[in-house]
Parts: sequence; C-alpha cells; structure tokens
Amino acid sequence: MKITEKRHRAARWLTGAGIEIGALHNPLPVPAQVSVRYVDRLSVDELRRHYPELGDEPMVPIDLIGDAENLSVLADDTQDFVIANHLLEHLENPLRGLQEMVRVLRPGGILYVALPDPRVTFDRSRDQTPTDHVIAEYRHGTEATREAHYAEWVERAEPLVEWMVAAGVAIGPQRVTEQMARSYSIHFHVWRPETFLEVIAAAREEAGVSLELQEFSACRPGEDDEYIFIFAKGRNGLLVPPPPGPDQVATLSEQLRRQETDAAATIAALERELERVSRDTAILRSLRRVAGRVPFGMVLARWVSRSLLRRQPT
Ligand SMILES: C[S@@+](CC[C@H](N)C(=O)[O-])C[C@H]1O[C@@H](n2cnc3c(N)ncnc32)[C@H](O)[C@@H]1O
Repeated sequence: MKITEKRHRAARWLTGAGIEIGALHNPLPVPAQVSVRYVDRLSVDELRRHYPELGDEPMVPIDLIGDAENLSVLADDTQDFVIANHLLEHLENPLRGLQEMVRVLRPGGILYVALPDPRVTFDRSRDQTPTDHVIAEYRHGTEATREAHYAEWVERAEPLVEWMVAAGVAIGPQRVTEQMARSYSIHFHVWRPETFLEVIAAAREEAGVSLELQEFSACRPGEDDEYIFIFAKGRNGLLVPPPPGPDQVATLSEQLRRQETDAAATIAALERELERVSRDTAILRSLRRVAGRVPFGMVLARWVSRSLLRRQPT
C-alpha cells in the first residue's frame, strides 16, 4: 500500500503513546515523537506461516500478543490512540472489537480506522454486511455464522485474490474446511462508509461504545483502495483539529504566494494609473497657462482637457 497524502493527514491526529493492531508488514507511518506498540493475535513466526505470500518481507516486531476482540493485555483508559488499519473487516465480532478498543483508549483518545473499499478490492463481488447481522453476532456469538462466512469468502473473494489465482489455489468445499481449520484471517465483513457508520451507531446502542466522528477521507478509486475514519472516544462535539501537516503547509504557502503576486500586480497597475494622472495634470496646467495668453489657446485647452477627462483608466 503506497503512503498516500490522506494517510499522512489522518495520522496527524496521533499523538503520545498508543497501539496499532495487525500492522503485519505495513505499519502506519506516524508523526515523529509518537510511540507505537504493535499488537497482533499471532507471533511473527506464526504470521510468516499464515501469510506465505509475503515471503521475506520485513514484519513489525510484535510487542503484545492479543486479540482485538479481547485486549485484556491492556488496562482501561491507557492508550492515547488505537490504530485499526485494515483490521476491523478481519474481526468476526466487530462490535466486540470496537468495545475493546474504546475501553483501552483514554477519554478523548483517537481511534484510526482504515477499511478497504469493496468497489476496488477482491471484495467487489460480495454483498455488504447487514448491520443486523453484526448485532446478532454481538448478542449471540459467532459460532453459528462462522462456516457461512468462510464459504462465502471462498466462493466470492478468493477467486479475485491475485496471489491465490496466481498460485492456482483450488476452490471447493475442501478449501472451506481447510481455511476454517487454520482460522485463516478472512474479511469476515464488507462495508462501505455509510454501512460502517451504521456499525458505529449499533456499537453505541448495543455495546455502549462512545465514539465521535472527527474526520473522514473517502476512497479515491484509481489512486487508493481505502477510506479512513478518525474517531475520538467519548466526547461531545469536535476536538480541535490538529495543526496542518507538511502537505497542507505547502498548499497554504502556494496560496499565499499567489495572493502576494496578485497584490503586487494590483499595486503596479495603480502606480501606472497614478503616473498617467500626474502626467495629464501637468499637461493641463501648461495648457491653461498658454490659454490665459492666447484666445485660440483657450479653445485648444478646453478641447484637450475634455478629451483627457474622457480617457478611461488603463
Ligand atoms: C490484512 S492484515 C493488515 C495489515 C496492515 N495493517 C495493512 O494495512 O496492510 C490483518 C492483520 O490483522 C491481524 N489480525 C486479524 N485478526 C485479528 C484479531 N482478531 N486480533 C488481532 N489481530 C488480528 C492479522 O494477523 C494481520 O496481521
């Protein structure tokens, strides 16, 4: 995933010390001075076996082994931020996950959520998850729906996962059993931004999760494949936005430079106009002097002054 300008912008909300869950080989770049501990349900060795397609790619060292749906390794109200970058779609019980993330955040702490936009990923032929389904999984657990999730993933997503197609992975009922047996980290859920906000509302209603939306960046198909939400824990109203990042400073400087150039052009035009008026005034004065002496000069002076006064400013 390339580091887009919108990732940089969203990461400006991160300050202090917090966690990223499921960074794998692609940790979110964060501003200097920000300290991140990496949490995953698997160790690096297990992750290498789980994701053979990553080969020797460097992976982030895991600081804490922990499940996003059970972050008991962390105490309440301790984290300045939680980063869930392409993680929530991997959770069987996302309301439980959101509840845990918000539990460990301090009041006002930031939840960074990036999700793949199904229109432009291997989820493109799948239906979005109805919010009632997520609520039912929160209320009754995920045992009853697990197999259906794997079957749907194998049928509709795997045929579009490029590396699986290239590796000639065989699709079929056997594959469903295999993937379930190894708890393969599938996209259990599929959301667009509107349906994900319904999940946030359900988390509030069902699980008492208090999150306030601070910022949203839409997916730009062709440029990236994700949308990003920034939430703050348990506050009413918007936080003060963070200071502009380097990209915004560059834009502001460019705007300022353009305004200064415009102002300089206006001043130059005014100066030219002033010069013209002074020149015309001088001519008028000398004409009046001549006109005082010669009767014909009087007529000439009137004519010249009238035509000078009719001239439009340049
Ligand atoms: C697709 S990878 C995302 C990698 C990276 N964040 C990115 O944006 O490319 C999903 C990561 O989440 C981790 N993960 C999946 N389910 C998890 C869970 N329930 N608890 C903690 N980590 C989980 C996986 O082990 C993996 O490291």
